[in-house]
Amino acid sequence: MLVLFILHTNTKNKFMCGIVGYIGQREAYPIVIEGLKRLEYRGYDSAGIALYDGTNLKVCKTKGKVSDLEKRSEEEITTIGNIGIGHTRWATHGVPNDVNSHPHVSNSGNLVIIHNGIIENYESLKKELITRGYSFKSETDTEVLINLIEDVQKQEGVKLGKAVQIALNQVIGAYAIAVFDKNRPDEVVVARLGSPLAIGIGENEFFIASDASPFLEYTKNAIYLEDEELAIIHLNKEIKIRKIQDDSLVDPYIQELQINLEQIEKNGFDHFMLKEIHEQPKAITDTYRGRLLRNEAIIKMAGVEDNMKKFLNANRIIIVACGTSWHAGLVAEYIFEDLARIPVEVEYASEFRYRNPIITEKDVVIAISQSGETADTLAAIKLAKSKGAFVFGVCNVVGSSIARESDAGAYTHAGPEIGVASTKAFTTQITVLTLIALRLARAKGTISSSDFRTHMLELELIPKKVEQALKSDKLIAEIADIYKNSRNCLYLGRGYNFPVALEGALKLKEISYIHAEGYPAAEMKHGPIALIDENMPIVVIATKKGHYEKVVSNIQEIKSRKGKIIGIVTEGDEQVRALADHVIEVPETLESLSPLITTIPLQLLSYHIAVLLGKNVDQPRNLAKSVTVE
Ligand code: M6R
Repeated sequence: MLVLFILHTNTKNKFMCGIVGYIGQREAYPIVIEGLKRLEYRGYDSAGIALYDGTNLKVCKTKGKVSDLEKRSEEEITTIGNIGIGHTRWATHGVPNDVNSHPHVSNSGNLVIIHNGIIENYESLKKELITRGYSFKSETDTEVLINLIEDVQKQEGVKLGKAVQIALNQVIGAYAIAVFDKNRPDEVVVARLGSPLAIGIGENEFFIASDASPFLEYTKNAIYLEDEELAIIHLNKEIKIRKIQDDSLVDPYIQELQINLEQIEKNGFDHFMLKEIHEQPKAITDTYRGRLLRNEAIIKMAGVEDNMKKFLNANRIIIVACGTSWHAGLVAEYIFEDLARIPVEVEYASEFRYRNPIITEKDVVIAISQSGETADTLAAIKLAKSKGAFVFGVCNVVGSSIARESDAGAYTHAGPEIGVASTKAFTTQITVLTLIALRLARAKGTISSSDFRTHMLELELIPKKVEQALKSDKLIAEIADIYKNSRNCLYLGRGYNFPVALEGALKLKEISYIHAEGYPAAEMKHGPIALIDENMPIVVIATKKGHYEKVVSNIQEIKSRKGKIIGIVTEGDEQVRALADHVIEVPETLESLSPLITTIPLQLLSYHIAVLLGKNVDQPRNLAKSVTVE
């Protein structure tokens, strides 16, 4: 549960990369390479590894994916080190190529670094280092940092940990780094500011990673470094953690991880995305469990209860988010206004932060983010807080930056989402937002007790109905085969299902690279109708409870223009079936909960089209799971 009120330092312009490290008695190579595969969702432009056995240092890096690195390593890696670090990169500055890939080695050849982040003042530091005789092979800020550390070591005559600390006090920017020194083969130094870093603690062995997934099979004990902390990890010694700025010692807080390996593996599914689509019944149940107490007819959410006055006295709710989370925010706008009668504005976080918005202390800002690391959403939160608004976070990743920066919040309990295309995060975000809206509606008296009970009962039935919707998988794969070569696709929906249309279009775009647009069905005649001909597939959400008759009229309009209609309809529907080229049935539910069901066939449709086209479903081109850059 997120009920944190901690304020953290800034996390500007970060690279979105994954870092992994190992020091102990085992061979580092398989641990680091497998770890990189698990972190590849963070970026996959290039990858690299450095291994050290106490005598030989081997660095192998390449443009491309971790599988390319693995192939190259087969030829190049000759060292079986017990110390190793690896990196998978999503480039923002400089093209992805072998030279710019991490790890980077200092001029003397002694120090090796991996880095997730950006050193903003690297150019001035670089100039200074050049005057001292340093030279650089890459265009990266990281190579500057490792040489700065080396320079400090030489100038000050200090050990690695101290040198890293002094150097970091000279840099402006964000980082999660791991560094080792050939002269100290029993030690790795790590530090973070603005980019996540976890240390796994085994028996006389340590793991380092951007998240815990690379070391889950070895240990469940981990320390998550806080911003501005540096840890010296020494075999046979206790981990020492210090504040980078003032050198004060920090008590290591070792926590037991609650995630298991199964949650981060494909478990027999061909792709993470498919696994995550199928996990939705459980994810939704996990999200309302313990919060929706039907027998007592109450909804209990600590973050809401503790701040009830703020919600009830709010002039309005402003929702800030990006991408799929923004679509969940749009669904929430309907739910909050409909049930709790609170005015809602939904903002792209990236626009909100730059348009001098009017925010007052009477506003409640809800920030929605799966990763909890999206830079624009984080910046929007900071802006809202600076104007005195109360910020409530809805995040999936426990302890993430947005979770910590928010005044209060509620976690979705979707479990790790690895596929870049968001699926179960969307439905669990809607679940949390529905619970909040229902709780507020009850407190405000804008919902009758019988409607409240009906909603609770129906929400509890949603997981079963999602299971039912998933059974159309085969039919959807057949429809996907018919339309896989389309160049464009339209998605239409009304009311609660308008945001679902947007989400369906986004899913198709991002994993199949087919151009798609979502529209409110009635807007079609104000422009998009010009696009319709016999080559245009149009997915229309036409369930019984959502302005059904109006949507049927829209379907007639499409049919008269020979568009190909794929209708998402309520079980037993005959009217749309008679008009559409294909129908996909979904179980009936309340209109306000229908997005939780109607989104399922759209996720499956884009999945199957992408698979049939041979696209990389889990790692679509140009994207990364957490967008930690502006
Ligand atoms: O982690 P967040 O929910 O903040 O991420 C927001 C978007 O980047 C994300 O939803 C993105 O649009 C997904 N790739 C959509 O599938």
